[in-house]
Amino acid sequence: MSYDPKDMGPSLAWELRRLERQAELSFEAELRILEKLLTGRTPSRVLDLGCGSGAFTRRLRDAWPATTVVGADIDGDMLALVAEPTKLIGPDETLVHESESAYELIIIRYVAQHLSPESRGSMWARCRAALAEGGHVVVIDVDDSDWGTVQPQDHTLEPIYQRISAFQTRGGSDRSVVGHLPDELKAAGFIEVSRVRDHVASSTRPIDDFEPHLSPTRHAGLVVQKVLSLAEMARLAAAWQSVRSDPDAFISLNIHAVHATNPSQTTSVHTRPEGVM
Ligand SMILES: C[S@@+](CC[C@H](N)C(=O)[O-])C[C@H]1O[C@@H](n2cnc3c(N)ncnc32)[C@H](O)[C@@H]1O
Repeated sequence: MSYDPKDMGPSLAWELRRLERQAELSFEAELRILEKLLTGRTPSRVLDLGCGSGAFTRRLRDAWPATTVVGADIDGDMLALVAEPTKLIGPDETLVHESESAYELIIIRYVAQHLSPESRGSMWARCRAALAEGGHVVVIDVDDSDWGTVQPQDHTLEPIYQRISAFQTRGGSDRSVVGHLPDELKAAGFIEVSRVRDHVASSTRPIDDFEPHLSPTRHAGLVVQKVLSLAEMARLAAAWQSVRSDPDAFISLNIHAVHATNPSQTTSVHTRPEGVM
């Protein structure tokens, strides 16, 4: 597991604020994805698996007040920040016990990139076992090959970002995990597997709302680890500053999700071709 909230930025408080601002920025688009997939029917029981500090859990509970949204995580300190109902789980623990009802929807947001392919395989199997027949899993995660656009562009920064990405990969993080998920979910026996994409853009949000994604503060630790020089860090900071102060700047960030359905016992297993919304 390549995620430790204490190591993701200058401090734990900083990372908690980043998670909050990230959820604030993209929740509307993510809710649109969920509601379109569920064709307007709100599920009654949902699991937010790997809910962290609950930035998404809380927003989903507000959006769907009649739904029970259970937040689950392996990190008890993060989970302590989430209002009940919550569930502290072991990394390979069953997600639903005999006395509990199955879930109609399991959401896994920005967790898969931090897991090894083996751990993800275990997660998909456990999700299937915890879902009602016909229940859905929605995985929201990163695809660095299709992250979006920032205008004005500064191509001279690309080698720096490539080095950051290579460092994250060496640390066990998969920044293009979304591309692997359809095959993994099909192999776990899910049906109707589809990739979904939406976006959030500065035409509807202030530029500063994109800070959790574009400010280099989260990479400050890479200077200490000698992945970046102080001069490179200063260049990233100057580039973000110049986007922020440019009245013609434009940012559009893509939100990637993969959806799959748990087959009912009577459903013959078939898959729909992958589509992009
Ligand atoms: C980047 S945080 C995302 C938190 C939250 N989903 C959000 O979007 O704000 C990743 C979370 O996944 C949790 N996690 C990692 N491996 C997990 C596993 N096997 N089962 C459940 N949670 C896991 C971590 O403890 C951490 O809280």
